[in-house]
Amino acid sequence: MIELDRIRFGWEEDKPVIDGLSLKIRQGDKAVILGANGCGKSTLLKLMNGLVFPQAGTIRYRGEPLAKSALADRHFARRFRQECALLFQHPEAMLFNPTVREEIAYGPRQLALPEPDACAERWAAAFGLVPRLDQPPFLLSGGEKQKVALACVLAIEPQLLLLDEPSASLDPATVGWLIDTLLEADTTVVAATHNLSLAAELGSRCLVMGEGGRLLYDGPVDAALANLALLEEARLAHRHRHRHGGATHAHLHAHDWDVG
Ligand SMILES: Nc1ncnc2c1ncn2[C@@H]1O[C@H](COP(=O)(O)OP(=O)(O)OP(=O)(O)O)[C@@H](O)[C@H]1O
Ligand SMILES: [Mg+2]
Repeated sequence: MIELDRIRFGWEEDKPVIDGLSLKIRQGDKAVILGANGCGKSTLLKLMNGLVFPQAGTIRYRGEPLAKSALADRHFARRFRQECALLFQHPEAMLFNPTVREEIAYGPRQLALPEPDACAERWAAAFGLVPRLDQPPFLLSGGEKQKVALACVLAIEPQLLLLDEPSASLDPATVGWLIDTLLEADTTVVAATHNLSLAAELGSRCLVMGEGGRLLYDGPVDAALANLALLEEARLAHRHRHRHGGATHAHLHAHDWDVG
């Protein structure tokens, strides 16, 4: 569905964040990207969403080059923006409409999808946001904002859904609901997360990024999460002093996930 071939990208041209990365996301993949703070996960998702472009290498979406010049073509841009949606790491960055209703309906309306208002009400109901429909998104709680942002990306029914830390502010019940919803849908999903339990439940495939945007691992999630050396190299697990019933000792520990 999307293919990255030896891409290099730096926010400053001489300082690559990602260097020589190649990967293919196939239709139907539910892939999770794991990696420490600053390793380039959000940057990678922005590249896949055509918001920034590599300085070297190519990205192809369904076989077509995803370049600035391709997105200048209105037909391609419209199709791509409907088919590929990115949930930003910080939902505030996405929310600018005066009400939750208009916020969720905005994408469907821009893309001329049928009945944007009914669509907004449907997704608001799915996230328990109906009482908030006429409120301004900026007055909501952190988790409610994240729910609105998720409703916005789901409302356009994308085929490739890029999620940047989707569970960061969500309560556990909503995370569970989100996982079920994503697993039931045919949508191809690429989710960057620090939440290893979300990764374990959602992902059929796991990409572990190390320093310099290198791929340290591409394979089944279970095997990655059981691989302490890999988690330690990716700085996802930590050897620290840990208290058990009064005694303090050191062992390898990945927070939120039981690695023994
Ligand atoms: N808009 C930007 N302008 C300049 N530098 C940026 C920008 N966004 C990210 N960077 C830099 O690129 C590097 C990778 O950042 P990125 O946000 O992709 O990491 P990440 O893996 O998503 O981290 P986190 O786990 O904290 O979300 C960092 O060194 C960061 O400072
Ligand atoms: Mg990030």
